[in-house]
Amino acid sequence: MDPFNVMKSVPAAAPVTSRARPEQLKMNQADFEQQLSQAALGRARPADGPHVVLAQREAATGMESQLSDEKLVVVSNRVSTFDPSKPKTGGLAAALEPVVERSGAVWTGSSGTLSEGSERLNDLKRHGTGQVAKIDLPAAHYDSFYYGFANSTLWPAFHSLTERMSPSEEAHYKSYREINCSMARALSRLKNRGAIWVHDYHFLPLGDELRELSIQQPIGFFLHTPWPRPDVMEKVPHHHELMESMLAYDLVGFQTRSDLDNFLCCLQAHLGLESKSDAVISARGLTRCQTFPIGIDPKQFVDYAVQSLATHRQEISSMQDKLDGTKLAIGVDRLDYTKGIDNRIKALDQVLADKPHSISLLQIGTPSRGDIPAYSEYQSDIDSLVSDVNRKHGTDQGWKPVLYEKGHVSQMQLAGLYRTAEVGLVTPLRDGMNLVAKEYVAAQDPNDPGVLILSKFAGAAEDLNGNEALHVDPASPDDIATAISTATEMPREERIERWRPMMDKLEAYTIHDWSKDFLRELGHSRVAVPADQFRYLGFGWLNEAEMPSYETPEELNGAVKHVQDTRWVLPS
Ligand code: G6P
Repeated sequence: MDPFNVMKSVPAAAPVTSRARPEQLKMNQADFEQQLSQAALGRARPADGPHVVLAQREAATGMESQLSDEKLVVVSNRVSTFDPSKPKTGGLAAALEPVVERSGAVWTGSSGTLSEGSERLNDLKRHGTGQVAKIDLPAAHYDSFYYGFANSTLWPAFHSLTERMSPSEEAHYKSYREINCSMARALSRLKNRGAIWVHDYHFLPLGDELRELSIQQPIGFFLHTPWPRPDVMEKVPHHHELMESMLAYDLVGFQTRSDLDNFLCCLQAHLGLESKSDAVISARGLTRCQTFPIGIDPKQFVDYAVQSLATHRQEISSMQDKLDGTKLAIGVDRLDYTKGIDNRIKALDQVLADKPHSISLLQIGTPSRGDIPAYSEYQSDIDSLVSDVNRKHGTDQGWKPVLYEKGHVSQMQLAGLYRTAEVGLVTPLRDGMNLVAKEYVAAQDPNDPGVLILSKFAGAAEDLNGNEALHVDPASPDDIATAISTATEMPREERIERWRPMMDKLEAYTIHDWSKDFLRELGHSRVAVPADQFRYLGFGWLNEAEMPSYETPEELNGAVKHVQDTRWVLPS
């Protein structure tokens, strides 16, 4: 069966634009009322504003805001390997794999092969109940999109590391937009599209491109990284246009409340848009913003940890031999300058200067984005730091304090190693969530758990939200060194007391809850109301000034549900 089908009504390129300049985003009462009356008379054009047109069109076809039996489409740049023996590159891949396997979703993303012309869809491959549809993206734009705008501009900016941002190149931004366009065209060819769930900073304007292709399904977006404050966002070229394009999403999800607050502050500071109860109304309609702190499958990690000690007994005991009687700390990261690996090794240096031959660090580092100079330089800096510390503190008997592993480690091996380590070192300068922190906690022996040392700037610190982990300033090797000493001396009872509440939190909101939660909210978010009825609803504000004040998210949800539960009939 051919899984794809070109929608005849969809323009292939250069769609009619409905993009507004930032100053046009704030609704003008008179214009909006005029648009409403035109829509009611059936004279609305796409340029009249997508929300009005949507309201009219959906009422006419009776398709108001249901996810129906159609497939969920998940979109991200990187698609997981689905191979348990291979490491997961980044938290996104690890998180989405179980979602796709269980939900029957179609996961689309870059195939890693580039196409000489336009985008090309590959055959669908089944994984669990879900499927993967990889796309060959255009060679002419992919490198400037991936190495350029996505990873040399947005990535450092979103981590508030502006000194790491490359000088702005207009061509990079152009390619970023082109790849988003290509992805939108590819998605428009997928049959049985249901709701669309877009992931991460690679695709900020994808929702907008999809709406330009007249795609009317609910579209949600989730950002896996932090969102920065307005003064940092200001340094991103085209930040107005990018943020404006994000208002095409029905639902925008963030890892933490701080990220969401930063986003709302940016909308206010840069686009002059106010929010109420985390909802934003613009000429594009309603965009709801919410937090969905990403989790893991703790049960799977418990099982992996137990199995691993049996299955990988030999590797683990040969690693333990190398410790030469010292305690073990573990760090697991992509080799990325946001991860703070350098300060961690400097901290180890200080601990060993104070207490020689007391602790070893197993640092697992997955090479990443090595074609970007900031990354290759960081990777060689880490190599030299590791050599220095090993030379300085290693023994003549062959003990080396840093075991640096850049090879592949499976999820199961990893779980066994987490369980073996007395200290988990998670010290990013800034991080969206950091699932390693959660995996380390889940893999511990409940009767003899290790201690988590966690950067106060990782989303996990806000999410776990207690003093159970030892929180540190990741920029301070001194602070990390003190925490390492505290952790290695902590009595077992205190370790158990600190570990249990963290494990409870992981069990209370798993990766499965995360995806269910997001999709349920996305199902509620598409407000589809006949245009001429719009003003008479309980939800019937016409502009920001008229928007009722919902004190709590529950009140807003109630109002949205009221709209959705009502069958609206257009007057004849
Ligand atoms: C982070 C990002 C993901 C990305 C991953 C790996 O976790 O949030 O979107 O996929 O890093 O990076 P890469 O560039 O190798 O896909």
